[in-house]
Amino acid sequence: MKADRLLEEIKSQVDIVEFLSDYVRLKKSGQNYKGLCPFHSEKTPSFMVSPSKQIFHCFGCGTGGDVVTFLMKHDNISFIEAVKHIAKKAGIAIGELRFEKGISVREKILLLQKEALKSFKENLVGSGSAQEYLKKRGIEDVSIESFNIGYATAERDALSEYLRNKGHGDPLMKEAGLTVFDERGYRDIFRGRIIFPIFNLQNEVIGFGGRVLDDGKPKYINSPETEVFKKSEILYALNLSKDEIRKKGYAIIVEGYLDTIMCHQYGFRNTVAPLGTSLTSRHLQRLKLFTEKAVLVFDSDDAGVSAARRSLAILCDCNFRAKVLLLPRGEDPDSFLRKSGNQPFKNMLSKAMSIVDFLMVTSKGDKIDAVREALGMIAGIKDMIIAEELLSELTDRSKINESALRGELAKIRNKLGSPVLEGSGLQGTAKNKEEQLLLSAVIAFPEKAGYVLSKLNIEELRNETVKSLFRKIKGLPEKLKVESLLGDADETEKALITKLSLKPGFDFEHVDRNIDDCLQSLAVKRFEERRREAEESGDIALLDSFLKEKRRLIKEANL
Ligand code: UTP
Ligand code: MN
Repeated sequence: MKADRLLEEIKSQVDIVEFLSDYVRLKKSGQNYKGLCPFHSEKTPSFMVSPSKQIFHCFGCGTGGDVVTFLMKHDNISFIEAVKHIAKKAGIAIGELRFEKGISVREKILLLQKEALKSFKENLVGSGSAQEYLKKRGIEDVSIESFNIGYATAERDALSEYLRNKGHGDPLMKEAGLTVFDERGYRDIFRGRIIFPIFNLQNEVIGFGGRVLDDGKPKYINSPETEVFKKSEILYALNLSKDEIRKKGYAIIVEGYLDTIMCHQYGFRNTVAPLGTSLTSRHLQRLKLFTEKAVLVFDSDDAGVSAARRSLAILCDCNFRAKVLLLPRGEDPDSFLRKSGNQPFKNMLSKAMSIVDFLMVTSKGDKIDAVREALGMIAGIKDMIIAEELLSELTDRSKINESALRGELAKIRNKLGSPVLEGSGLQGTAKNKEEQLLLSAVIAFPEKAGYVLSKLNIEELRNETVKSLFRKIKGLPEKLKVESLLGDADETEKALITKLSLKPGFDFEHVDRNIDDCLQSLAVKRFEERRREAEESGDIALLDSFLKEKRRLIKEANL
């Protein structure tokens, strides 16, 4: 039996409500069931399970999916392990079934990454110079082990050869982000570098970072974006840190691979890092599964301070409670820990600055500038309790009358407009409401998919998750089913699918009219954008043609 057929079979044999009852206390609530979410701590239930759709979604932390997703997340196991476990429970023998055949691109890439990792680890055992380098950097064997550090040899195609010998094809290697094609054919992306594998929360290796052993440039390279590797959402070492983050109640966010590894080595095992990019709301959406508190660690030079500022704004925007630790100039956590040891770092952590503190201390301008900047940051915070706490701190520190500060704050908030929708952490939710509504219509009423797809220009969509899902829906060989869409979705996409399935954002009775309204409103928005561009570039002829088109649009809408 083909693996996806078997998967359908397995899923049809287990009832999600019954299955999840071993993990969550569920109570019936209308057509669905509700309980306390096992993926984040909460006092009122926002975890919903739909027996008719066989999916779950938590409206608190945004996690969602089917039984397989649930088990993968809950037990921190891989897709295949979860399927095997569920099959066993359902009494289906899957025996020697090889999942390598007939599986999705995503699964194939994951298999390839796993084999690549094996090869990199073997290389490290065989390379004196790579081991020498790690020793010089103070990386202990336990860290090499737990972070699965490896080495890519300097040859042009050592990895490609290794994988070819295992029967893998060149196109897939390229798709997995392991090779590139140049005038001499395929060559490995990682050559002569220490390899830091990057894992997702299910402990599957999804990409790699590689550092040169000398002063060569670029110092680091990362795997390119692939079907499974999205730089803007993965935090390095979150798979290793999550339990400790839960236990300590906060995460330490640093900048680099080595910094993360050293923090862990020195006992700060709640440390993670973005992969050479700045912090995004997608990173924080992941982190939110475990905590809503973070300490940012940065160098106190200008670059460090401005990076900290940017990250703080994102943290505030995502309702995190954040603090900042500024290290002595020129130091990063790695160099600081190796020089000074564990205790000084611990002391600094306990004295990390609050947002207000940080802005007052590091402001380039005078006190008033600092206060204005702090107000700007507070205005972006949707959680009123956090905002209030910071405002009272600002009042104390600045010694400015509280009602004056509140007056200014209200002005800034007005200017910013109404706060964006909360919850899922989806960026631009309110801004791109029509896009989400259209997706919701299609997911709730698959028979409308044909119509919506025929009218919609997918490439013009702004919300990346919505866009990617519409692309996938368009590519489906058969009629849209939530299950098949879930099977091919990444975590953010799954969360959106289950959310929209359980709470479609509009009135079912008026679905056709709603669809048309959304389509039209999108068309008008895109039109306005192009008109603005034409206006800015001063292109009169273009502007004129837009005005004509707008008249036509209006006429059409009135018919
Ligand atoms: P840093 O330049 O601060 O390096 O980059 P580092 O982490 O301290 O590394 P060492 O100590 O010199 O070995 C911070 C992070 O930025 C990304 C990497 O993720 C790195 O860990 N980076 C840096 C890149 O992606 N590419 C680069 O060329 C440099
Ligand atoms: Mn460093």
